[in-house]
Amino acid sequence: MTFSPADRPEIGDFADRLLCWYRRRGRQLPWRCGHDPYRIWISEIMLQQTGVGTVIPYYQRFLARFPDLASLASASIDEVIALWAGLGYYSRARNLHAAAQILVADHGGRFPEELPELTRLPGIGRSTAGAIRAIAFGKRAPILDGNVRRILSRIFALEAPLKTAKSQKQLWAWAEQLTPNDNVDDYSQAIMDLGATVCTPRNPDCAACPVSPCCVAFRLGKTAELPLSVVKKTTPTVQQVALVLNKGGRFLLQKRPYQGFLGGLWEFPSASLKEAEESGGAAQGLLDQLGLDLRGQLRRHGKIRHAYSHFRLIAEVFCGEVFPRGDRIGEKDREEQWFSRDAVASLPLHGAHRKIMEKLEKEGKGATFQK
Ligand code: ADE
Repeated sequence: MTFSPADRPEIGDFADRLLCWYRRRGRQLPWRCGHDPYRIWISEIMLQQTGVGTVIPYYQRFLARFPDLASLASASIDEVIALWAGLGYYSRARNLHAAAQILVADHGGRFPEELPELTRLPGIGRSTAGAIRAIAFGKRAPILDGNVRRILSRIFALEAPLKTAKSQKQLWAWAEQLTPNDNVDDYSQAIMDLGATVCTPRNPDCAACPVSPCCVAFRLGKTAELPLSVVKKTTPTVQQVALVLNKGGRFLLQKRPYQGFLGGLWEFPSASLKEAEESGGAAQGLLDQLGLDLRGQLRRHGKIRHAYSHFRLIAEVFCGEVFPRGDRIGEKDREEQWFSRDAVASLPLHGAHRKIMEKLEKEGKGATFQK
C-alpha cells in the first residue's frame, strides 16, 4: 500500500521539520557559503555519483584553478580532465567544459534560472537543474537524486523498485508536493544531508530522524526493507594485456579518444583479450601492431584488478625494452608520446593504469619504474 500527502495530513510539516533539523545539524560544506551559480553548479556535478568526502579536495583544487565561468570556458579540455583525474565518470568533466563554453557564447556568461534552459546544457539533468535553481536562485524546484529517492520511498512506503518508469513518475510527484515555497535552498541541502547522514541505505538512524513522524515505513517497521532492492546483474569482467615499454627511461603512453569511456585520459598501450585468447600471444600481437622492436623478450609482471561502475577490469602487465633508436612503424590511431617516469606519474592516467604504475614502482622488478 502507498500513501499520498493528501491522505496523510502529518506530511504537512515535513519541510518545517527538515529545515529545523538542518539549522542545527546541517553539514558545513565548502559550496554552502554563498549562492554563486557557478560554484553551486560545479559542486552539483561533482556530487553526482560521488560522496562529499571525495569531492571536497577536488572541488577546492578545481575552483582554485577555474574560479569562474570565463576561466573554465577558455581552458583546454586536457587541463580540465587533469583536474578531474581520479574522480571518475569523466563525461562530467567534458560536459562541464562544453557547458561553460555554451554559457559564455550563448548566455552572456550568465546562468539561466529556468529548468528548460538549464536542462538543455550538457550534463545537467532534471534533478541537477532543480538543485541549481533552488540553491543558487532560491526558486522553487524539486530535486530527486539517489538520496531523495531513498527518503521518499521510505516516507511513502513505496513497494516497488525505484528505477521503474512508474516509480520515477510517482517519486517526482511526491518530490514536487513536498518541496516548500520558501527556504527552498536550505530545504534542498537539508534533504540531501538527511539522506547522507540519517536516512542511509543500511541501518538508517530513525531515532535521530526529524521526519520519522511523517514516515510510513517507520510506522510499519519497514525502513530496513525499503527501498526494495532489485537483484543486481552480475558485472562482466574484461581481461586485457597492457604493455609497459621502456625506451631509454621513457615510457610509451596513449591518450584515449575524447568521445569514449574514460575519454582524454592516458594509458599504457593495451588490448582486450578475445574469448579464450592467450595473454602472451595477445601481448605479442599488440607489440607487432605498434611496430616496435624489442631488446629481448616481453616479461610478465602479474595482474592488476580494477572495478569500474559497469565492469571489472583485469589487466595482465607485460614489460619490455625498446632499442633506444627504435621508433614506431605501426599506424597511430590516437595521440601518443614517450614520457619520463616523473612525467607519467603526473599525467591524468585512468585508475586501472595508475595501479599498473604503482605496482611496478612498488615491486621494482625489472627496474621498470624505479627512479
Ligand atoms: N549531493 C548532491 N548535492 C549535494 C549538496 N549540495 N550537498 C550535499 N550532498 C549533495
